[in-house]
Amino acid sequence: MKYKKIVLLVRRSKVSKRKQIDLSIDKIEEQEKYIEAIHRMNEGLFNRTGYRKSYFCTTFGCQMNEHDSEMLINMLEAMGYVQALSEDQADLVIYNTCAVRENAELKVYGNLGHLKSIKKKRPDMKIVVCGCMMQQPHVVEEIKKKYRHVDLIFGTHNLYKFPELLESTFNRDKIIVDVWDVDGEVVEGLKSNRKFEIKAFVNIMYGCNNFCTYCIVPYTRGRERSRKPGDIIDEIRSLVKDGTKEVTLLGQNVNSYGKTLEDDQKISFAQLLREVNKIDGLERIRFMTSHPKDISDDVIYAMRDCDKVCEFLHLPFQAGSTSLLKKMNRHYTKEDYLKIIEKAKREIPNLAFSTDIMIGFPGETDQDVDDTIDICEQVRYDSAFTFIYSKRRGTPAAKMLDQVPDDVKHQRFERVLEVVNRISGEKNANYLGKTLEVLVEGASKKNEAVLTGKSRHNKTVNFTSGDKSMIGKLVQVKITDPKSFSLNGELVK
Ligand code: SAH
Ligand code: SF4
Ligand code: F3S
Repeated sequence: MKYKKIVLLVRRSKVSKRKQIDLSIDKIEEQEKYIEAIHRMNEGLFNRTGYRKSYFCTTFGCQMNEHDSEMLINMLEAMGYVQALSEDQADLVIYNTCAVRENAELKVYGNLGHLKSIKKKRPDMKIVVCGCMMQQPHVVEEIKKKYRHVDLIFGTHNLYKFPELLESTFNRDKIIVDVWDVDGEVVEGLKSNRKFEIKAFVNIMYGCNNFCTYCIVPYTRGRERSRKPGDIIDEIRSLVKDGTKEVTLLGQNVNSYGKTLEDDQKISFAQLLREVNKIDGLERIRFMTSHPKDISDDVIYAMRDCDKVCEFLHLPFQAGSTSLLKKMNRHYTKEDYLKIIEKAKREIPNLAFSTDIMIGFPGETDQDVDDTIDICEQVRYDSAFTFIYSKRRGTPAAKMLDQVPDDVKHQRFERVLEVVNRISGEKNANYLGKTLEVLVEGASKKNEAVLTGKSRHNKTVNFTSGDKSMIGKLVQVKITDPKSFSLNGELVK
């Protein structure tokens, strides 16, 4: 099969805020026409042959990426596609990619390589690659050169255009590339069509302005843009009407929510939490991620005052050493960070903490790692995500000359991991004999008779003597057997 390449590089012209609102409605209506047309085509096929086209979507990145995949899946289902049992059997394969670390990128290339032989056998299979990796021009070039069996490439700013882009791949042997190199505007009104979800992600803002020197996200997601509070509240109300009990408000730095809003709409993140807390029928509110430089006392007070906001704070510190934090462009010191934690612990009893830690940033010394371990010991995290620094092309840290050798990075990583795991095990052990409120999510994968859910502290709790009618409900569970990464207990009748 021969592939021609079309490269559509659309540069969005600056439009006024007023105009953006009208444009959003038009854009969604336009896409709905494509959804209807593809749906008609798929129904026709089904009526003639009894066959339904299927999709398989793999998400490589963070919660935001996962939420984007949910949107894509919603669109696909509205177009009449059903989920395939496996990637190899699917008519449409989507990779929603992540660029944050090299490993995530290598996996995508590996998977694309695997699909080559499958597509040879099934040439009608469509392969779509989207998400953060596609915002990097060298990645798109690589795919166009080495993975010519790909049908469609698009980026993070034009997800809403997926139906139109998909349609453009039909009956055409071309790689369609549509990557916007500037920030997408906030497009509202995407039919979410979500199925009943006990827990749902809700974007409150897009992009990031922080440019931590190691991080690719500001380049792949563009500058910060906040959604209007009314749109967020409407979305949550509609989710709750359909049965959702818990929402996670998403943004790369939710603490700076509201900065891009017009004056008559402007509210802070703390105020947004208080507004969401008023929604009847909603049981729990979570949020991520918080940047320590922007978390205000008001956010801590809102967490304390709002009964639905869970006692859980994910506050990445990355490194304990103030000099390394400066090199990372994080804008806080070790002492600043510890002060926030102290305040939060004082205001909110039983607050659970999690964090992100990076090991091996350029110039890191053993003493810097001691500082990181010192923060872990002082805060006592319930859980922590530890990452080995990965060089990202185009970021300032990639050009720093004092890169840490791989073997040293790995040794330090093991040292930190040991501390992190010990502390989270100790914290879990404290729950023995305590009764926790659990939002039941389903049956355990390993044992159907065991139900599983999350506590307000975001602990996974498995319990016996419940029944499936409890799924989606809040129950009380007494912890009888705390494990390192989860808690086992019994339903309190
Ligand atoms: N916006 C969020 C984090 C987004 S990325 C925040 O600021 O907290 C999630 C985590 O990936 C980061 O917290 C960081 O620990 C890690 N990360 C980002 N860039 C990385 C890199 N180049 N190498 C290794 N880990 C990285
Ligand atoms: Fe990356 Fe820093 Fe922005 Fe988080 S705050 S997404 S780590 S640049
Ligand atoms: Fe998320 Fe990865 Fe993009 S962490 S924002 S999917 S680079």
